[in-house]
Amino acid sequence: MTIEDEKRVAAEASVAFVESGMTVGLGTGSTVAYLLPALAGRQLDIRCVATSPRTAQAATALGLRVLDFREVDRFDIAIDGADQIAPDGWLIKGGGAAHTREKVVANAADRFVVIADSSKPVDALHGSVPVELMEYGLAATLRELASVVLRDVPRSPDGGVIGDYHGDLSDPAALAARLSAAPGLVDHGLFPPSMVHDVLIARGVDVEHRVIRA
Ligand code: 5RP
Repeated sequence: MTIEDEKRVAAEASVAFVESGMTVGLGTGSTVAYLLPALAGRQLDIRCVATSPRTAQAATALGLRVLDFREVDRFDIAIDGADQIAPDGWLIKGGGAAHTREKVVANAADRFVVIADSSKPVDALHGSVPVELMEYGLAATLRELASVVLRDVPRSPDGGVIGDYHGDLSDPAALAARLSAAPGLVDHGLFPPSMVHDVLIARGVDVEHRVIRA
């Protein structure tokens, strides 16, 4: 089994949580790319909102009903990938630069389900945290945050500049609070356990189900 196979296995397991009549938030990334055909294949009567143009296009092409987020104020369920999953449920997201929209959708969902291959669980969050910054005052925001490296990628669909914060990740709650308090920072890729309900981790053909929040 390859990592790609595991992404598919986790994604396919998650569609069991979706029922007809639900409003579904769709994440972004290579794991979500496996979710979309699995969801479309169930032929349920569902309404979806996508967190990126990429996901919206793929979902629509597969026949899923994709609404504008202006038409929806909550979700029964949202399903998305992650870059790192800590044992206590803290996530790092935003490898695909979609974390701001993904967080709005996850927060508006009654149930947020994370799908992942076996490379995503970590003993402790490490590396860097994706950030989205306003163009306005960018130099001042970068000076304030001190250790953000901008990515050479297109702006977010909302016009934000994408970068990565490098620093101490040993206290995710404290770092999340510090980043959230920085003017000019639109949002960051730290997702708290309070936002996460289920984590499905594929290990070969088996799926580990971690319940983070009931
Ligand atoms: C996009 C994300 C993705 O969910 C995260 O980067 C995982 O991506 P992939 O499924 O391709 O490994 O947060 O902003």
